[in-house]
Amino acid sequence: MPRKGRHKLYDEDDYDYYDDYKDDDEFDYAEHGQSRKEDDATSSAPQQNFLGGASKAGETALGEANLWRCSICTYDNPEDYLACDICGVIRHPSTRVDQLSTAVPFKFDGPSPDDKVLAGKQRNARSVPVEVSSPSILSKTSLSTMETKGGVNTSHSSKLKATLESKAPARSRKLGYDKEKKIESCHVIKPSQYEGESYLDDGMKHMSLDNNLQDNGIINHKIEQSSNKGLPLDNYKPEQWMLEDNENEKKLFHLVIVGHVDAGKSTLMGRILHLLGRISQKEMHKHRKEANEMGKGSFAYAWALDEGSEERARGVTMTVAMKHFETKKFKVVLLDAPGHKDFIPNMISGAAQADAAVLVVDASTGAFEAGFEGQGQVGGQTREHAQLVKSLGVNQLVVAVNKMDAVNYSKSRFNQIKGSLAPFLKQCGFKDTAILWVPVSGIEAQNLVTGPSETQLTSWYTGINLLDAIDTLEPPVRLTSKPLRLIVAEVFSKITLGPTAVSGKLESGAVKVGTKVLLMPSREIARVKSLEQDGESVSVGRAGDHLDVGLQGVDAGALMVGGVLCHPDYPVPIATLLELKVLTLGITVPLLRGTQVVLHAHHAKDPARIAELVSLLDLKTGAVIRQSPRCLTANQRAVIQVVPERGVCVEEYTNFRSLGRIILRDGGKTVAVGVISRIISQQ
Ligand code: GTP
Ligand code: MG
Repeated sequence: MPRKGRHKLYDEDDYDYYDDYKDDDEFDYAEHGQSRKEDDATSSAPQQNFLGGASKAGETALGEANLWRCSICTYDNPEDYLACDICGVIRHPSTRVDQLSTAVPFKFDGPSPDDKVLAGKQRNARSVPVEVSSPSILSKTSLSTMETKGGVNTSHSSKLKATLESKAPARSRKLGYDKEKKIESCHVIKPSQYEGESYLDDGMKHMSLDNNLQDNGIINHKIEQSSNKGLPLDNYKPEQWMLEDNENEKKLFHLVIVGHVDAGKSTLMGRILHLLGRISQKEMHKHRKEANEMGKGSFAYAWALDEGSEERARGVTMTVAMKHFETKKFKVVLLDAPGHKDFIPNMISGAAQADAAVLVVDASTGAFEAGFEGQGQVGGQTREHAQLVKSLGVNQLVVAVNKMDAVNYSKSRFNQIKGSLAPFLKQCGFKDTAILWVPVSGIEAQNLVTGPSETQLTSWYTGINLLDAIDTLEPPVRLTSKPLRLIVAEVFSKITLGPTAVSGKLESGAVKVGTKVLLMPSREIARVKSLEQDGESVSVGRAGDHLDVGLQGVDAGALMVGGVLCHPDYPVPIATLLELKVLTLGITVPLLRGTQVVLHAHHAKDPARIAELVSLLDLKTGAVIRQSPRCLTANQRAVIQVVPERGVCVEEYTNFRSLGRIILRDGGKTVAVGVISRIISQQ
């Protein structure tokens, strides 16, 4: 999950053909006071850029920037990225692209980030047949696979080949492709107790995946542990410093903001940050002035989160922005996700860390309907985001019915939206009692951090404001007494942290400056040199914290997005064959044995192949109704086996929930969500 401000946005330079990404049919601009259309009409410069190809910023960057090409998915990453922004693979020296004319520009109407991963995968699938039944499948994807993975640009392939050959032993070791080691370490795990259990609860007829399962902690680690796999988790005893906790301190709370494109998420959050004093008057003045100059005056508050030049020029969030603010109860880590469908993979990255979500819907006439119903069977991103956050483990939701100013704070419009959305959210698995409905206006700052002042709203609304609604959410259980698991969301370098630093959420355990950590999947040991939280240096981090970690004793090649920092004696498995319990979404193309998908698990994205359709399950009871179905269609529950191409650092769901959830996507759409019921083989 690239963080804004630290890196350039990953696709900042490549939006040459972006002009028509906003479908005017989707929005009733007349309903928006100062709306996008007006903005664009008053701004000739950006519009010319949209129509004329690369924007000014894009042209400059294209002329100057150095890129490096990912050897897996062929995405051209900016020079300062250490890991591929699309598939997370580590940077290789030979993949630099000096001639930008060879770079394939990313564009909205072209392949999405998902497609990029798939493109690499499909080429691989042809060149490297993968044996599902063999535990040593990845031994076949050694050097020859890497050479061809992602269809590396021919002008660079010989250079890449030479470099890979010279570095082959080191690289195989890092990626865990060592044949002997893997055969020795692979084994089949017994079916878990989870088998046959229902994962739909009464109120969650279609989407819930976690009923009948115990708390969200590690329960019993069923994987047989051998010496190179570490010790059984039962042996783990946390040290005293790991458990110490200041009861009086506010708890960290990760809150993701989701919703259809243009629902007003960034504006709403920018406004809250401003009202809470997290954005100074001076900064706000600067945003207003610059936004006005670009003819994007109505986006001034959104600019507090949309920091990339391309995001600002286009008026759309592209990557997750992270900000901090405090409520009476929490230190909130705010994750402002993109709403546009092309950036769902980024949204998933943000949602994977969240303890709760604010689902923002646009109340203006036609806009709510566009976000909810969308086009075709699958609906808009209001639907998709709600399904995704639920499947990623978010159980608590605040629905912010935004832009109420555009409908004169109408009670009937609010109730109409609630009436349409509530049954769907229930179907997704959200309990009625876990959803709060709050009418707001980001632009007019109504009902955000204090009660509303607008009489049209106060005449019928007596509920709480958005900030107080956040304070009613339950803090998550923190796994402080379990071994260290920090999921890498970003690999970067920073002066205060050194050349090899990662950031991510500490899912369990604790970490201290000076301690050793195991980096998975590279299996390298590093020493923690420094720790930072929200830019401040800290000496210890505990479960639930979001940390920047400076590492010593490793090179950047050992780090990757989607990797996990572990306790050296308790490594996370690198799964190469998974059994999943999935629920298919509104798919139009059936899923078959052999279907290629992109597997998302926390921050990891891996091209994957459906190796087996094991059984079809009853939607309500979870009982097996058919063995080996020929295909899966929309809204079906099933057990399937999936082969991630490179292997992913995951856990079985019963052992560790946040590492045991998966999302399968294909062609830029989410096709299924589910949980890992078994790790059948691992490296
Ligand atoms: P993405 O991140 O790209 O999905 O968009 P977003 O949901 O963050 O929306 P953003 O904050 O960028 O706002 C989109 C447009 O809606 C801008 O023109 C805003 O000025 C407008 N907008 C946001 N909040 C309100 C509101 O409360 N009322 C009205 N009338 N317009 C709003
Ligand atoms: Mg936004």
